Formats: sequence, structure tokens, C-alpha cells
Amino acid sequence: MQDIIRFGVSMDAALLERFDKHIQDRGYGNRSEAIRDLVRDSLVREEWEGGDEVVGTITLVYDHHVRELSERLTDIQHDHFNSVLSSLHIHLDHHNCLEVIVVRDEASKVQKFADRLIGTRGVKHGKLSATTRGAKLR
Ligand code: NI
Repeated sequence: MQDIIRFGVSMDAALLERFDKHIQDRGYGNRSEAIRDLVRDSLVREEWEGGDEVVGTITLVYDHHVRELSERLTDIQHDHFNSVLSSLHIHLDHHNCLEVIVVRDEASKVQKFADRLIGTRGVKHGKLSATTRGAKLR
């Protein structure tokens, strides 16, 4: 069991008011949990900036009728096979595919991999969700 430490935070009243509105809109029950999440998010960003081994998901939406697009996306994934843990392909409708690739590698390699996929012509939307192995977070 980790020690819980309480500490006071001084803040401009108007800023705190905006923060309270913001966290209320997001469904937080209290400021403490919201602040803990902000701290964790900041630490995850630090892991990415520090080049640590990270995990994440790359989400792609594309039309598989676009000529050679499926093949190009597969080729890129084979180029980065060491970073791929798993992938999921959903046929959304007659044209569109959703692909989710779960990745684990050094942050810079994952970023480069995601940039290549998302930047491929014909990909309608792509997003890298950058998260953490969690070892450094509680
Ligand atoms: Ni498909």
C-alpha cells in the first residue's frame, strides 16, 4: 500500500473555476482524480519524449477499393514487424475498413511507423494513441 500524501495547491480563482467546469464536464467526481490523471498523462508524455519502450495503438480507416492501398499498408506493417503485437481488421461497410494495430517498441520507432501508415495516400483517418507499459505509473 502506497502512502497517500495530501498537498495544497494555490491557483488563480478564475483558472480554478474553469478547471472545475472542465472536470465536471468530463465526469470526474473530484479534483484529486482529475489532477492524478493529468500527472499520469504528463508522465506518459515524458516516457514518449524520453524514447522509452512504449505501447500504443494505431487506428486507420481506409477504402480498400483504392488501388494497391491494402497492399501498401501491409507492406509497411511487414517493414515494422518487430513493433507489431497484434492487429485487428474490421470491414465497416462495402468500401471502408477499420484497422487497429497494437504496437510496442521504442517511442521513436512507433512514431515513425504510425507516421508512415497515417501518411499513406488513401488513408481517410489515422490516429496514434500513445500510452504506456504502465510500469512507472500507479
Ligand atoms: Ni476490410
